[in-house]
Amino acid sequence: MVNLPEPDYRGKVRDLFFIDRERMLVRASDRLSAFDVVFGQPIPDKGRILTRVSNLWFEALRKSGLQQEFEFEDHLLETADDRLPEPFCNHPDFVGRSVLVRRTERVDFECVVRGYLAGSGWKDYQRSGAVCGHSLPEGLRQADLLPEPIFTPATKAALGDHDENVSTEYMVAKLGQRRTDRLREISIAIFNFASQRMQSAGILLCDTKFEFGIRNDRIVLIDEALTPDSSRYWDQSTYEPGTSPPGFDKQFVRDYVEQLGWNKKPPAPQLPDDVIQKTRGLYEEIERRIEGALGI
Ligand SMILES: Nc1ncnc2c1ncn2[C@@H]1O[C@H](COP(=O)(O)OP(=O)(O)O)[C@@H](O)[C@H]1O
Ligand SMILES: [Mg+2]
Repeated sequence: MVNLPEPDYRGKVRDLFFIDRERMLVRASDRLSAFDVVFGQPIPDKGRILTRVSNLWFEALRKSGLQQEFEFEDHLLETADDRLPEPFCNHPDFVGRSVLVRRTERVDFECVVRGYLAGSGWKDYQRSGAVCGHSLPEGLRQADLLPEPIFTPATKAALGDHDENVSTEYMVAKLGQRRTDRLREISIAIFNFASQRMQSAGILLCDTKFEFGIRNDRIVLIDEALTPDSSRYWDQSTYEPGTSPPGFDKQFVRDYVEQLGWNKKPPAPQLPDDVIQKTRGLYEEIERRIEGALGI
């Protein structure tokens, strides 16, 4: 078999292989990161699930008309294993978990949209009554539905650092008003579209994070879309405000390591096999529910 090149970049979850100036290959590994630390043990099949889920959403978005209405593109060039460039084409280490994409100039903000109060949004609200500069009604409980979805950007931290919530004003200072407005409008439109689609599958989309890049002055949706790594999905049937509803993602791992009292600095603790298997089961379950919601 042909020797594989080393990745040109290793993210926490994805490996990037630059093909030429315009294109790169993105391979999703089974690595799990929580609190921005990568765990030593993989979650079997996770990369394949992330790739499939992302591809399904990218396709649904293309068909939705939102790209025309809000003037953006996505980065996908090729998703079929047998149409990837050599030496990746049909390679067993790449099958089912790799896509060929357009290289873009990444916007160094995570474009987060929240429909419910959870995670760092809930923490910020308890401290200050606001989330990223959005002041919210008093008396909200954990996991409560927000009056409307809010855009709460975070900085895209360098490897090893934690992403940090910032105000929209901070983003405006870095990117300008127009680009910030456009990214916010696109993010909220995709969030609303995905929430509606998931409702039919009995799933609530709590929050999600998008990444964008710029190519020829056009806004491009990059990285991953609405995966269980980038989104909190809740089961409608167990949803209860005032609690932390169980998610379909690594929340299970987060809860496990928080209860260990880990300081969230590398190295990550060892995960017991049942935590790994349970997490894998959750990823598989949300993959099925998303397929159901998108009519696959
Ligand atoms: N089309 C693209 N153009 C430029 N950068 C991209 C594109 N798609 C993904 N990326 C970047 O590639 C990396 C993917 O690796 P990942 O493991 O997801 O990273 P992270 O550790 O930041 O989550 C991220 O830095 C992401 O911003
Ligand atoms: Mg990422």
